[in-house]
Amino acid sequence: MTQTLENKSVLLVISGGIAAYKSLELIRLIKKAGGAVRCILTKGGEQFVTPLSVSALCEEEAYTDLWSLKDETEMGHIQLTRDADMIVIAPASANLIAQMANGLAQDLASTALLASDKPAIIAPAMNVRMWENPATQANIAKLQEYGHTIIGPSEGDMACGEYGMGRMLEPEEIFAALTSAPQKKTENAAKPLAGKTALVTSGPTFEAIDPVRFIGNRSSGKQGHAIATALQQAGANVTLITGPVSISDPAGVKTVHIETAQEMLKACEDSLPADIAVCAAAVSDWAPKQHEQKIKKRGDASPPHIELNENPDILKTISNHKNRPSVVVGFAAETENLEDNAKAKLTRKGCDMILANLVAQEGAEVFGQDKGHIYCVTAASVDNWQPMSKSAIAKKLTDTIISSLDETETIKSAAE
Ligand code: CTP
Repeated sequence: MTQTLENKSVLLVISGGIAAYKSLELIRLIKKAGGAVRCILTKGGEQFVTPLSVSALCEEEAYTDLWSLKDETEMGHIQLTRDADMIVIAPASANLIAQMANGLAQDLASTALLASDKPAIIAPAMNVRMWENPATQANIAKLQEYGHTIIGPSEGDMACGEYGMGRMLEPEEIFAALTSAPQKKTENAAKPLAGKTALVTSGPTFEAIDPVRFIGNRSSGKQGHAIATALQQAGANVTLITGPVSISDPAGVKTVHIETAQEMLKACEDSLPADIAVCAAAVSDWAPKQHEQKIKKRGDASPPHIELNENPDILKTISNHKNRPSVVVGFAAETENLEDNAKAKLTRKGCDMILANLVAQEGAEVFGQDKGHIYCVTAASVDNWQPMSKSAIAKKLTDTIISSLDETETIKSAAE
């Protein structure tokens, strides 16, 4: 991944939110990486950071006014987005998001963004209820559909005293999204997975018992999301299919949100054909026969009986699909007989590689943790990867997939 923004010009839009102070650090990171930053402050943004601080850090005027004769003569509002290689909106308030989703041009920021045909990276920041409001969620869905990338928000304590989703990502995370944003075609073509498509499953599935209860598990999605990011950074066109998680969608990755195993299977089949499939999701093995109404307590009567049906095996389905990807990878959690169990799973599922987590040992994978101890099992070998971070596992898996694709292609061209 390129950490440099040498010769890149970034247009940063700062709208109203306490998180605006973090954008000052973002300007510093962009400048340090060699990028130039121009900044538009909305009226709300100006309540949290001053044009003076912003322009001192940017070493350039901070733009605030649509009707400024001086600004319009020197740098028209259309030129602001025209000149930018990248546009980032941080913090993106609920109001600015709504303006963008609905094509409104009410101030300099919304007018400049409406006059732009470039995809923007949007880092929302707002109160949890504003974020969860169906109107905001519909606006976010629209912006994604228009090709913008939404990063965050994350979960945590909020300035207003509430807790939940709505915190803007940290400046380092926004900077990482900028440096990993899809590069121009020529830059991307040099990457090892350029032109390849990948699908990755991640997170848990939730299977409804009744309208308010479900069977789920504690999968955080960290490993699957890290794999989607690593494949994207290697140049692949990635679709991530994820169950409900509290981490944000990876930058530059098309992310499909599902709840049940059936929905995950459908989204996977819709994403085929693909060159690579990695099934990292913790799919619930069973789904309850769903009750239409909430199950009520029945006095002294015995607890309700929940009938379970087996869920489809997504990894097995992809491995045996008529549009089977060239490389199919599955995961396994093993506490004993790792090699034998993983090899048996490899055959049973029909995939090419199983990343077996040794869960009984120190440093091993536990749901939600940042490290894992992987054994990479193929029909021909078992490779101990030693305990490492989930992003390092993702990178190592990506390298292994690249070698495996190279081998397949060499064999194919030798046979032709
Ligand atoms: N998997 C899947 N669809 C399912 C169940 C599992 O795609 N319905 C995938 C998972 O994403 C993972 C692998 O299959 O890649 C895990 O296989 P599984 O049989 O569930 O193994 P374990 O979780 O290790 O459990 P067990 O050995 O007890 O069966």
